[in-house]
Amino acid sequence: MTYKIAILGTGYVGLVCGVGLADFGNRVTCTDIDGEKIDLLARETIPFYEPGLEDYLKRNRKEGRFFLEKDPEKAIRDNDFIFIAVGTPSRDDGEADLSYLEEAVRTIARESKEPKVVVTKSTVPVGTNRWIKKALLHLNPAISFLVVSNPEFLREGRAVQDFFHPDKVVVGTEEEEAREVMREIFRPLYLLNTPFIFCNLETAELIKYANNAFLATKITFINQIANLCDAVGADVHVIARALGMDGRISPKFLHPGPGFGGSCFPKDTKALVKTGERYGADMSLAREVVIANERQKEEMIRKLQKLLGDIRGKRVCVLGLSFKAETDDVRESPAITIIKKLLQEGAKVQAHDPQAIPNARKILGEKVQYFDDMYQAMKRCDALCLLTEWNSYRNLDLDIVKSNLTGRVILDTRNVLAPELVKEKGFIYEGVGRR
Ligand SMILES: NC(=O)c1ccc[n+]([C@@H]2O[C@H](COP(=O)([O-])OP(=O)(O)OC[C@H]3O[C@@H](n4cnc5c(N)ncnc54)[C@H](O)[C@@H]3O)[C@@H](O)[C@H]2O)c1
Repeated sequence: MTYKIAILGTGYVGLVCGVGLADFGNRVTCTDIDGEKIDLLARETIPFYEPGLEDYLKRNRKEGRFFLEKDPEKAIRDNDFIFIAVGTPSRDDGEADLSYLEEAVRTIARESKEPKVVVTKSTVPVGTNRWIKKALLHLNPAISFLVVSNPEFLREGRAVQDFFHPDKVVVGTEEEEAREVMREIFRPLYLLNTPFIFCNLETAELIKYANNAFLATKITFINQIANLCDAVGADVHVIARALGMDGRISPKFLHPGPGFGGSCFPKDTKALVKTGERYGADMSLAREVVIANERQKEEMIRKLQKLLGDIRGKRVCVLGLSFKAETDDVRESPAITIIKKLLQEGAKVQAHDPQAIPNARKILGEKVQYFDDMYQAMKRCDALCLLTEWNSYRNLDLDIVKSNLTGRVILDTRNVLAPELVKEKGFIYEGVGRR
């Protein structure tokens, strides 16, 4: 069975789900209020960096299953399934900003002339899908709407792989009919024995927040253990390995660093704290994670200060701007916060990133000098600060680093370099939780 699906919001999630659902054999139309994104995609240019996505886009367009539409209203009218994948960024007070989603829901209500299944992929606070149900009924009582909460768990940088091989698919709905069609749409995954979790709307919404807050907590935990390792002379990697051998813990997400970032963990952890406040439930653990994560970024500055003395007037080479490797996303990237702080302290920053310079430039402007060549970025610098774990940084040619870098300080906030080799070359090396 071929379903007619419109995806509202053609960002990281919307586009990956769009080409993925098309690849399953459905007829998918991606639409966005940002017409430039659709123009770029029409020229088969992906507006962001996501490995493997371009091939799927090209193939599904060529084979007549994937379409682009500049007018969201038309996309809604022409399709039976409307997936909402719009952004839900953090507001200044930590609550999720639902204005894009609310606008999308109003448009769906206004443009629907026939029954629709509305599937929320965006991460939304508990109670939002029930509000969507009520709003659609109130705004367009003549039409039958089925509402599904289907949170997305893909990871940027591995999004395509994650779409086709998810750990789980969560379907929150109270209508049997909606459950059946969702099972059908995701049938290829069902056949692969992917676990499906069917639950009510609130449970599905909260699974997503609990999932992200748990991972953020795990990262924060190992970061704090790493800081203690620094103080007592222990090695966090040996500790993380030992912890990971305990089946109850698992070895994943036990890698220390400069703090978590990205478009999801920071905003979702903050939003969970806000939800707790609204319902009078204690979310003190998540609240502390948010605070400790900010401190972790400051800890990186403190380390650099310790190595360089006064930062004022020093020239620092930063390797990595994105919040993690294999993405150009700089939303809440620790690198951006750390660079802002370095600039505030009076340092000059020379930066390199394989993909994220255009996005970083939108935030940092020309206060930073950007380089396409990582070795050029090191020239005349007093220190090298590695902030994102791109593979190209793992195998730095230390002889070139030595001849280009004026100073001898290397701060490796991702622990990707081999400390012995670096020290052998005469550098002063500092990692996170290991010597
Ligand atoms: N990025 C991730 O790794 C990830 C993973 C899982 C879940 N999520 C969640 O998925 C949602 C989307 O995230 P993203 O990173 O893809 O966001 P994004 O900012 O990359 O894309 C959102 C898109 O929605 C568009 N949009 C806004 N209002 C619209 C409307 N009314 N109609 C049509 N388009 C509209 C915007 O122009 C933008 O292109 C968020 O709730 C996020 O928390 C993201």
